[in-house]
Amino acid sequence: MAPVPVSGALHYFRVLPEQWPQRLAMLRAMGLDAVETYLAWNMHEPTPGTFVLGGRADVGRFLDLAADAGLDAIVRPGPYICAEWDNGGLPSWLLADRSARLRCSDPGFLGHVARYFDAVLPAIAERQRTRGGNVVTLQVENEYGSYGTDRRYLEWLCDALRERGIDVPLATSDGASDYQLTGGTIPGVPAAVNFGDDPEKAFATLARYRPDDPPRCMEFWNGWFDHWGERHHTRPAADAAAVLERILATGASVNLYMAHGGTNFGTTAGANLGGAESVGGYQPTVTSYDYDAPIDERGAPTAKFHAFREVLARHRTEAVPEPEPLPPVLPAGTVRLDDTLRLLDVPPASVTGSAVPRTFEELGLHHGLVLYRSAIPGPRDSHPLHLDGLADRAHVFVDGALTAVLERSAETSVPVAVKGESASLEILVESMGRVNYGPGLGDRKGLVGGVRHDQQFLHGWTASTHPLDDISELPWGTADTAGRGPTYHRGVLTVAEPRDGYLALPGWTKGYVWVNGFCLGRYWDRGPQRTLYLPWPLLRPGANELVVLELDGVTEPVVEIRTEPEL
Ligand code: GLA
Repeated sequence: MAPVPVSGALHYFRVLPEQWPQRLAMLRAMGLDAVETYLAWNMHEPTPGTFVLGGRADVGRFLDLAADAGLDAIVRPGPYICAEWDNGGLPSWLLADRSARLRCSDPGFLGHVARYFDAVLPAIAERQRTRGGNVVTLQVENEYGSYGTDRRYLEWLCDALRERGIDVPLATSDGASDYQLTGGTIPGVPAAVNFGDDPEKAFATLARYRPDDPPRCMEFWNGWFDHWGERHHTRPAADAAAVLERILATGASVNLYMAHGGTNFGTTAGANLGGAESVGGYQPTVTSYDYDAPIDERGAPTAKFHAFREVLARHRTEAVPEPEPLPPVLPAGTVRLDDTLRLLDVPPASVTGSAVPRTFEELGLHHGLVLYRSAIPGPRDSHPLHLDGLADRAHVFVDGALTAVLERSAETSVPVAVKGESASLEILVESMGRVNYGPGLGDRKGLVGGVRHDQQFLHGWTASTHPLDDISELPWGTADTAGRGPTYHRGVLTVAEPRDGYLALPGWTKGYVWVNGFCLGRYWDRGPQRTLYLPWPLLRPGANELVVLELDGVTEPVVEIRTEPEL
């Protein structure tokens, strides 16, 4: 049997560019022929019409480095990518318009997609195999059959790709079920299936719809991702390798999802809604995207790497390179964060007044915190204060006192009485990831449905925004730090030389961590993730600034440097 191409997913947007060559070399060393990556629209167009294609978003350079490593490339440009990535890659500013429609042939949505494709596709088109490059396939949309039935939209996307010079083969991919394959496939475009197990059954289902398409798995889920407050997923190497063997035995081509997962840095993690139809409780995704993949979050080979390498070696004719050993990690240690600054003493990026509370998206805020202020007239007895459509977590202060911490899909009401003529109401809302899969896509943040005292809507609001994406101007040392509310803490991490490390925050509750101004992501004592991966390119020899924004409270402001991850 002729060997079929085997690829593996590695998202450039989840790995720092300095580390792309090492990760790509590891894919090659595992025995892969190609790398597969999505494009993250929200990274490339952070505000409407402003495009970023350099630095961490330099997908052209990533593809060139893949070519240098001897890898072909499969590119999945979206516009929607799912991927446990905020809003499935769709920019949050699309949601500033309450009537916006996503993932369909609505002209407003297509107009945005066209402009995005104009900006991003040239870097892909010029690297196609047909022009001497390494890009061999593009995927149209992503598992569209899990979402909708708009064939016109899918065909528009095919035309949009072709009109912009894409002439390599296209493909779609979907779950291996009747409704997904009848909703997501396009006449004349080869279809692929995605699964974690039962390859023979999945390919048989695909063959019922596509007897002439060669069997292809676009996502073999050999690991899985985690939500906050749920168990950490792992999948034994032997089990995953046995399924890989069965896939290859059918003669199918396969893409490992993930070959290397990486990290949901900053506020890039997505979320799910639970239940069979993905319309249930809110489940935010953790910061790590290790995925229990064969190449772990820091780029090291795992038992799964070696098991896959062995399987793949039996299916290929030429030898593959040995994996290069990684340099050691930082020595274990601790850092005290003695400087403090209350979030409420930081000047907001913007202050907006409105009759009803505005969403983050209406306020032009991608993520972070918003302090909503209003008042409840009195005197009145105790009634429940309802935060309708709270997204996602709120500290409620009545007359300056912390009254409740409320949370979407848990508790969104608290009883409040007003003794005097009026009570001041401050609601500090934190956003977690936007839902990236299913009918809940288009997940707006803030006090989305308004605030009621009993059945009465409260009117007259101001909203002060705290975006968290640039902490370089924080006014350290200017305010009295005693008192209430979320607090920034700052300390110095001294290293002899830049190395990978893992940060643990025992005794801290919930918040965000920055190293030299780069936001590593969220932490939360509810787990399962206990350590944050600190990649070496963020460090410099000597002193490094470590900042933590703690939202709830810390017993001892000390961060631990650990030598092993705890996911
Ligand atoms: C689907 C999507 C991927 C990813 C996986 C789960 O297959 O296509 O983007 O979300 O599920 O990790």
